[in-house]
Amino acid sequence: KRPAGAPDKELARKVTKVGVIGAGLMARQFALLFVRRLQVPVVITDLDQTATDAGVTAIHHEIDKLHEKGRLSSDDTNRLKALVTGTTNKADFADCDWVIEAIFEELGAKQSVFAEVEQHISDEAILATNTSSLSVEQIGSQLKHPERLVGFHFFNPVAVMPLIEVVKTPHTNDETLSTAMVTAKNLRKNAVITTDTPGFVVNRILAKVLGEAMHAVDTGTPFEVVEESTRPFGLPMTPFELLELVGLKVGAHVLDTHHAAFPERFFESENLHKLAELGFIFDRDSKGKAKGVSKKAVEIV
Ligand code: 3HC
Repeated sequence: KRPAGAPDKELARKVTKVGVIGAGLMARQFALLFVRRLQVPVVITDLDQTATDAGVTAIHHEIDKLHEKGRLSSDDTNRLKALVTGTTNKADFADCDWVIEAIFEELGAKQSVFAEVEQHISDEAILATNTSSLSVEQIGSQLKHPERLVGFHFFNPVAVMPLIEVVKTPHTNDETLSTAMVTAKNLRKNAVITTDTPGFVVNRILAKVLGEAMHAVDTGTPFEVVEESTRPFGLPMTPFELLELVGLKVGAHVLDTHHAAFPERFFESENLHKLAELGFIFDRDSKGKAKGVSKKAVEIV
């Protein structure tokens, strides 16, 4: 059955080479997914050579880990690693037919990086953004061809979370939407088509939960009480564990953008910004397992 609002899959363009803009936490994870599932070259770029190289090295390391777990043969390991390369020259994106960005959540930066990439790619190439809370339409407002832009929102951890939000703007054409839906399927993810509203669907709901949890702390409830109170819901993680997983800066940004869009309905949290500066909420053991809320986090709020 065709997902609600999805155009005919016959319209989908073939993806034979992927460009990834950004080499951070999310970009690394989905670059790995693209190379594993589509088995096509993936070229990755970041602000400078050091950041780009760090991204490529991290992806190669994850491919090695899959090999160690017995999930990839030696041949496949070497082949996949060779398919992942880095560049600081956007001209190397010229033959990419799918370019996706996951740089920091700043509208101007996303607009200009896409405008730059558009100078190098063919008119048929699709552009996708992994933004979690900016307007996809605004991100594409400086494009010559805004009809080729679509939101393609992954969730953390990318390898495990089954969903992709495909965000349609008023300009996104059927070929672009169809390519996004087929690509999501080829990545073995479930895709839903959402409208281009703040937080789309998932983050709108998540921002409520995380915002309420932070607000409880902001108004004097200890972290542990909020933790204990949310456990009966059977979610895989408590709100604070989830905030650490997505990144405290990203979490603070998500709350801020929801508060800006709907001030009556969403909280922002100064304390979350302070925790983001600290960099953690939980103390962890040498294997990374949370041992409990850090005294430093408690002192901050
Ligand atoms: N990266 C990659 N893989 C991971 C991972 C990570 N950070 N954490 C766990 N995994 C994998 C493990 O390798 C394992 O895979 P395997 O079975 O193939 O070996 C599998 O996930 C299960 O791991 P575990 O048994 O160790 O751990 P759990 O059963 O406790 O599950 C979890 C871990 C999947 C992270 C689970 O706690 C969970 O689903 N948490 C909620 C995550 C969530 O809600 N994410 C959405 C965040 S919102 C977002 O990203 C949007 C953004 O815009 C803000």
